[in-house]
Amino acid sequence: MAETRQSIHGQWTSRFAFILAATGAAVGLGNIWKFPYIAGENGGGAFVLVYLLCILLVGGPLLMSEILLGRRGRQNPINSIRSIAKDENRSKYWAVIGLMGIVASFLILSYYSVIAGWALDYVFKSGMGQFAGQNAQSIDATFDKFIANPWALIFWHTIIIGFTVFVVARGVQKGIESAVRFMFPLMVVLLLILVGYAMDTGYFFKGVEFLFHPDFAKLTPEGFLTALGHAFFTLSLATGSIMMYGAYVPKQSSIATAAIWIIIADTAVALISGLAIFPMVFANGLVPSAGPGLIFQTLPIAFGQMGFGRIFGTLFFIMLVIAAFTSAISLLEPTVAWLMERLKIMRLQATIFAGIGIWLLGIGTVLSFNAMPGHFLFGMNFFDFLDYLTANILLPLGGLLMIIFTAWVLPRHTTEDELNMKGKVYYRLWLYGSRFITPFAILVVFLGSLGLFNGF
Ligand code: TRP
Repeated sequence: MAETRQSIHGQWTSRFAFILAATGAAVGLGNIWKFPYIAGENGGGAFVLVYLLCILLVGGPLLMSEILLGRRGRQNPINSIRSIAKDENRSKYWAVIGLMGIVASFLILSYYSVIAGWALDYVFKSGMGQFAGQNAQSIDATFDKFIANPWALIFWHTIIIGFTVFVVARGVQKGIESAVRFMFPLMVVLLLILVGYAMDTGYFFKGVEFLFHPDFAKLTPEGFLTALGHAFFTLSLATGSIMMYGAYVPKQSSIATAAIWIIIADTAVALISGLAIFPMVFANGLVPSAGPGLIFQTLPIAFGQMGFGRIFGTLFFIMLVIAAFTSAISLLEPTVAWLMERLKIMRLQATIFAGIGIWLLGIGTVLSFNAMPGHFLFGMNFFDFLDYLTANILLPLGGLLMIIFTAWVLPRHTTEDELNMKGKVYYRLWLYGSRFITPFAILVVFLGSLGLFNGF
């Protein structure tokens, strides 16, 4: 029965299309905005090494699990897991993993879209030459003034959600696949142009050294946790985004090969972004550990001082918007598929409903930068609360349950069959890694993120 299940939402035209869409989902603000600054804050090289290890030990096995669950279930994450559990006579309550994923993707998109909106605004700021000749103070002031204006943030947030709804409403092949097919290559070309520009600063090797020279003295226990948490976020794991995309993968395609390509591409984009950003930062005498402001506050100073900075600055923010956009699409799809299956409504309606809900929730994030900066819950503003709830609780917990479900609860022959790895050594590698390494690594991050290891 499981073999003949079809998705009512359609299918990718090829495995390549799936790899492109999933890589588009994985590569986003996480790679270009977050990775460089957390690497900067945690000392560079040594952190990068730990991060690569996390991608290998946790990211890889979980990525394969999530694709296999999606392809076997071929429905929205809740129904997929419920059907698979039913096929194997396991408890239907495992479907809670799917529910947590849908909730997480809904919440993440609500704030992700606001930040993507900042990037879109910066395309225009840069294009109009607003950074030229500015100093750190005036660039900070520009940023502060911008986020203090709720109307501006709502405007850009609306545009991002609007385009995301437009693409997702057109369906899997005509919407998502065709958008990613031209956007992802464009993003890569822009990235390479920017690395070329960074090489020209004369500080390229300072950037290389910063990213690849490991100085273990700079690595803290929190650095490990940050690295593992980021491995989840950057590969879009545990929210059902990848499961949803997996539901559209043709039957014969090798899941392991797809996972390897997605990981290579995602990691390459993160590292290459670092190689584009750090030389510009160093060449202008700036510091790389500037935190979340690295892209919106430090980098514009560099663009404002460098030759052709107006052009390359604009290209940089266009690249950031495209990267964020292909991720936003993947974050909307699980909710849309769920609404379609649950309420038996058309894709267009489901997408509009989901879009309106996410747009409304996003206003909470907008207001946490201006009208409501105070405490929302547990001493955090709304944006920080959503970020904490998703990245530190829902993703690790969802990932943990997901790996336990696939590696421990499902029978071996089922996973072996779905991975198309009958009798292969690699299957055992995946199985034992997923049973004995991945869950413990996740448990460590999870407990660590709750602060249980504080004081060590
Ligand atoms: N991976 C994307 C990034 O690095 C963000 C993203 C897209 C995501 N879909 C997700 C994060 C699902 C977590 C879960 O920017």
